[in-house]
Amino acid sequence: MQAAVVGSGGREHALVRALRRSTLVSDVYAWPGNDGIFLDAKRPPASVKDRHSFAVWAQEKNLDLVVVGPENELVDGWTDELRAHGISAFGPSREAARLESSKIFSKQFMVESGVPTARASIIKSKLDLARAMPNFSAPYVLKADGLAAGKGVFICKTEQELINAGNDLFERRRLGEAGSQALLEEFMPGEELSVLVLTNGYDFHVLPYCRDHKRLLDNDLGPNTGGMGVIAPISVPQQVNEEILQTVVEPSIRGLQKRGLLYRGILFIGVMLTKTGPSVLEYNVRWGDPEAQAILPMLDGDWAMTFKQVADGSLPKLAWQKAGVACLVVAAEGYPDSPVKGVAISGATANSADIDILHAGTKQLGDGRFVTNGGRVLNVVARAPTVGLAIERAYQGLSQIHWPGMQYRRDIGSAIRNSN
Ligand code: AMP
Ligand code: GLY
Repeated sequence: MQAAVVGSGGREHALVRALRRSTLVSDVYAWPGNDGIFLDAKRPPASVKDRHSFAVWAQEKNLDLVVVGPENELVDGWTDELRAHGISAFGPSREAARLESSKIFSKQFMVESGVPTARASIIKSKLDLARAMPNFSAPYVLKADGLAAGKGVFICKTEQELINAGNDLFERRRLGEAGSQALLEEFMPGEELSVLVLTNGYDFHVLPYCRDHKRLLDNDLGPNTGGMGVIAPISVPQQVNEEILQTVVEPSIRGLQKRGLLYRGILFIGVMLTKTGPSVLEYNVRWGDPEAQAILPMLDGDWAMTFKQVADGSLPKLAWQKAGVACLVVAAEGYPDSPVKGVAISGATANSADIDILHAGTKQLGDGRFVTNGGRVLNVVARAPTVGLAIERAYQGLSQIHWPGMQYRRDIGSAIRNSN
């Protein structure tokens, strides 16, 4: 099999590694990739510049499988274009990707599908916001409708903070078109859970649950990020598990089916475990980053075969290893606002049997050294018999990596580590 991965982050490096571990795969390509990913993947020719030229090349090359990683490309219709060129593509159609690219569409989908979620109002102006505010209470949650790379959710403790957030969206247009419409919704207290579902649009498997750590600093302080670390699996009580399946996952998949949406990929459901049961925060139409880095190594099987079958509309059986995985994100100085690029990294590519070092944002200089080239720079992924051991092992791996100003959390999975 010849396969390719579209995207350029740590998630895509993990996908490349997962494909390379398959005995069925001869070549793995990545586009646009990053220099670290290209340690493991081949580059398409320079003629590949966009969706169309990629699809033309994939057809000429007779690729057996393309896995599309990021939301932007899914929303931009990459899988539709690849399918139109006769290529098996893993990822939902452009139409289905609206579940992530429009929070209003996705809220309507949840409500119509009977999926529990926070009560919300559609807000298109400062006037709408002023009118809706009395129907909600603090803390307020204002969410930009469009894709905002993790910067579109404002949790406001006071009315004034909410008014400021509304001014940011509707007056200063800080998020541009993505923030021209928004949702005002109830705040839901609870613990978050990442529920990733592998589906062909009608059958599905729920992957091992995991937990991301979204805030930059220890003890969940500091700004929101794309994710600073993940541990998997997370176990939940049997009754909660059943509730997630019956009230969240099943009706979500039936909703896709009812609308005839072509969905062959991962539906990532952000769930809040509230006192009154699971409730959906959001849908993502892709693997999470860094959730993918933690879940992919847990399969007891072959990802290339699995992706290919799902891309072609079927759903294979899955088995999981009895292992724990921890993924730590190492970020650049200044992340998330203004990451410092070009800082030399030492120890970056030191993989070992139990530790994978994945490149999320690096560049290789002519002399072979890697430098920082993005916000999230490296991921350290460790697998072990238990989650607690995996966390320990991952921190040992991380201790080999150095650059001035590097940022990482010291408390990934600490709740679990302390209870072990
Ligand atoms: P989202 O992009 O919708 O997942 O929102 C980003 C983060 O904001 C989530 O991971 C939650 O931590 C938080 N969040 C979003 N919506 C709510 C809500 N209704 N109640 C509490 N926290 C929320
Ligand atoms: N780690 C959260 C996300 O990928 O959206």
